[in-house]
Amino acid sequence: MATTLYVLHLLGAVVWVGGMAFAILMLRPAAHEALEPPQRIALMEGVFRRFFRMLWHVVPVVILTGWAMWIGWYWGFAASIWHVHAMHLAGLGMAGVFLFVALGPWARMRAAVAAGDRAAAAAALDTIRKAVTFNLMLGLLTVAVAGWGRFGG
Ligand code: HEM
Repeated sequence: MATTLYVLHLLGAVVWVGGMAFAILMLRPAAHEALEPPQRIALMEGVFRRFFRMLWHVVPVVILTGWAMWIGWYWGFAASIWHVHAMHLAGLGMAGVFLFVALGPWARMRAAVAAGDRAAAAAALDTIRKAVTFNLMLGLLTVAVAGWGRFGG
């Protein structure tokens, strides 16, 4: 059971952080090079619609498996070690940023696309880009801290 939780936790973290890296570092610059603004907005709307729909499932898996391991292996705050505290804090921060994006700029972008308001859609997309870039950096740092804490001391 513990191994299953651990594997699910790692798979969730890989999909979450890897998806953000692909969207921000590869897809977005390539879309800028190859597409005009209307097509670019349509592409990114389709990409984030699928990615955020998946994250509504993946984020709870990462948090819940993390809590289950934290409580089951470390008995919560009493015995847990520094990298688990850091991961916990960063994980909650990342989930908060995801909620902010999903309920704020992403909702605005969808409404703007439906209304044909390209300027508002582009502004919301820019906010999404900044927030996802922030979460990508936090996610990479979290994985580095988690790995370092476990194997580096
Ligand atoms: C509520 C948030 C979280 C909690 C309570 C939590 C808890 C845990 C626990 C207890 C372990 C096992 C640690 C060990 O035995 O050394 C673990 C492993 C791991 N977690 Fe998390 N985690 C959370 C969020 C995250 C997030 C957001 C990421 C990635 C962005 C992440 C990445 C990892 C990685 C890469 C490992 C494997 C390395 C290791 O075992 O330390 N975790 N997590």
